[in-house]
Amino acid sequence: MRGRDPHLPVHLRAWARGHGHTVAGDADGDGAFTLVRGGAGEARWRGAVRAGGPGPGGVVDRAPATWGLAARGALVEDGGPPLRLADLDRKADVWADVVPKLYAQALGGQWDPATAVDWGSPLNADPEVEGAVVQVMTYLVENELAALQVPARFIARVHPHFREVVQLLAVQAADEARHVEVFTRRAELSGHPLGTSGAGGRASLQTLLDEPDFSLAAFLLAVLGEGTFLDLLGFLERHGPDPVTRRVAHLARADEARHVAFGVAHLEHRVAAEPEFRGRLRAAIEHRHDVLASTAGLHAGVHDALVVLASGSWTAAAVAAGWDRVAALTAAMDEGRRRRLGRLGFPPGEAAELSALHTRNFM
Ligand SMILES: [Fe+2]
Ligand SMILES: [Fe+2]
Repeated sequence: MRGRDPHLPVHLRAWARGHGHTVAGDADGDGAFTLVRGGAGEARWRGAVRAGGPGPGGVVDRAPATWGLAARGALVEDGGPPLRLADLDRKADVWADVVPKLYAQALGGQWDPATAVDWGSPLNADPEVEGAVVQVMTYLVENELAALQVPARFIARVHPHFREVVQLLAVQAADEARHVEVFTRRAELSGHPLGTSGAGGRASLQTLLDEPDFSLAAFLLAVLGEGTFLDLLGFLERHGPDPVTRRVAHLARADEARHVAFGVAHLEHRVAAEPEFRGRLRAAIEHRHDVLASTAGLHAGVHDALVVLASGSWTAAAVAAGWDRVAALTAAMDEGRRRRLGRLGFPPGEAAELSALHTRNFM
């Protein structure tokens, strides 16, 4: 370095010392100095590690807590605070290869309740039928709230290294928030008082909130509960007595299909790596069944409301047809559960037995 300022040597040496470098030169008084790089800058990055790679291919089997909130693929300086909440740090415990694709689909599938539904459409004039719709909506809201709380509880527990899983759970929680909104709005539409909330149904939902294991919660909620709800929402879409009921069921069902797809894919991933995990899935269904054995499950008001809703009018012949439709619905729900259990490797006999133990509350 060269300069004409007489204070250059003083300032240059002070700056160099502050940054861990040294200054050599000006031995022959020619005003030329040489800045010699010190080791302090590199020492800072000694022990730094790459936190995997940025794309899904860069996901590691186990993410250390010391990587903290660093972007996947970043060079992580040693010595930062470890993440305390994110105990789900094993890829096998949270991952499915389809997650990045499902997240992209979820973003593409977002809809706005204000514009996606024509809230001014006419309702069925029969007050009994309208009461049945309101009862079903009241029931749906509490189930949607459970489906919101479960992923929301896990968001902070999944290590952010598994970014796509965290993002998918966040969008899933937003989906459920919309479902709570549209079912509440449909319930309030006619001014009919809201329906009843049975203790047995809420006891059933509480067992979902109480499950601390991510994979078991995904199994009970997504594979079995939301899987069963796909049939229920399809039923409401087909037999709903007014366009708003049919439309909100249709919109929620499209979101639920993604939630079920993630649950099934994650469990397929997990049992492929740990076939013995199937035993824990079985135990989770049996345990939930035992806990709920003394409760009513689906309360009779909801069952009857489904019959009246699907009848469309309050005549003996219509109610008989509604009854047959609800019987066909519960058979389809059972068949769907057995099919999904089959995808997780349960043989047909065991799948049928486990499907029969699923909560009468559907979710
Ligand atoms: Fe939902
Ligand atoms: Fe859902």
